[in-house]
Amino acid sequence: MNFKDQLASIAPAFSYNHGHLEAGGVNLSEVIEAAKGPVYVYALDSVLENFLGFKEAFSGQPTRICYAMKANDCVAILKLLSDVGSGVDVVSGGELALAMSAGIPADKIVFSGVGKSDSELAQAVNAGVMQINVETAYELGQLAKIANSMGKEAPIALRVNPDVEAGTLDQISTGRATDKFGIAYQDAARLYMEAEKTPGLAPKGIAMHIGSQIGDTDFLAAACAKLRSLWESLATSGVKLERFDVGGGLGIRYKNEDPPLVQAYADTIKKAVSGLNAEVVLEPGRRIVGPAGVLLSTVISVKEAAGRRFVILDAAMNDLIRPALYKAWHEIVPLTDPGKVQWTPADVVGPVCESTDKFADQRPLPPLLPGDRVAFLAAGAYGAVMGSEYNSRPRAAEAVVRGGNWSFTRNPRSYNDIIREQHAPSWL
Ligand code: LLP
Repeated sequence: MNFKDQLASIAPAFSYNHGHLEAGGVNLSEVIEAAKGPVYVYALDSVLENFLGFKEAFSGQPTRICYAMKANDCVAILKLLSDVGSGVDVVSGGELALAMSAGIPADKIVFSGVGKSDSELAQAVNAGVMQINVETAYELGQLAKIANSMGKEAPIALRVNPDVEAGTLDQISTGRATDKFGIAYQDAARLYMEAEKTPGLAPKGIAMHIGSQIGDTDFLAAACAKLRSLWESLATSGVKLERFDVGGGLGIRYKNEDPPLVQAYADTIKKAVSGLNAEVVLEPGRRIVGPAGVLLSTVISVKEAAGRRFVILDAAMNDLIRPALYKAWHEIVPLTDPGKVQWTPADVVGPVCESTDKFADQRPLPPLLPGDRVAFLAAGAYGAVMGSEYNSRPRAAEAVVRGGNWSFTRNPRSYNDIIREQHAPSWL
């Protein structure tokens, strides 16, 4: 496939105009020029379209979409989604605080996470979140104590581990009995019964999340079927639930995958809950923001060694860790249309002192010279949020584009920003 067709199939919001890569009517060279370093760019229209795709596909089925902000916590995206009725799924007190500061109402927030501290539980109860997805019997006990001491009742779902495969990478599978996530399937009914009788706890729903980058709806259907039978047996024992939270996980195209259409996904879920009179809760992350974002970077230098072409970028594994961590594939395209030139293999690497700081191995690319710019595609999810300042490299900036406008949403950081945040003790 030619690289422009590939671009269109992975990141349809991005295209070449007069030879320059553009999104939202903005020439992306302008953004990286201003950032003076690696920068993530998110096309807001694309984020919106992806969200509305879920909304439409689930029409006719009472559904709450709680965007999983762990995928991308850019406040402009939170605001954009909140304005069209989205809730959020948070996994830490920090995300809860950020979501609320971005104006997401507490009653649209699901608090997930395998280990919540007492202070995070108190924060969630105090804020009045819609639902806390409880992952252990211990957490259930703590939550009851905390809610009681505050004179409140915590709306809960148990995140049940359905013990199914997700057909995705080992590192991002979460629904097998041996994974660290959720309450063991065989313990769930008992805990629901206990919760039902415990002051301070209000069982509202059942929850699952079997993994991320799921490419086949059959895995989801199998997990839903297990939760459905639990839901039904609970109903006969007097525990009447309202919400069926299927988590997130729908995959996207990074290379040549053919992930399910959102409509096929919706049909699977609707079928799985039909007749239950349940409100469906969705926690999509990657599918909403992944294709809408790119990471822009500049070539620092190029070299030939051992018969290989090395392209050394100013972005590194601290900016985009997915290739180093999961051997994940991110398509790389030049910011300027190279025209009809020969593409030849190159190892694309960052400047960090680690061999795993490598974005691509023998990847066909056009000729690239120092100062040339490239974009990593489908980097809108689990990109910036997983960034670090390893090697004292300032975190990448972030920007949004829409309707010919662009703005930084996270300013380029300076060395002083890094220096300011540390101090040696006065007694040293
Ligand atoms: N809900 C829960 C409880 C989750 O743990 C996750 C993701 C989601 C929803 C959203 O899943 P999504 O729709 O984005 O697949 N860092 C990895 C992905 C980790 C996903 C963790 N959980 C990556 O870069 O591929």
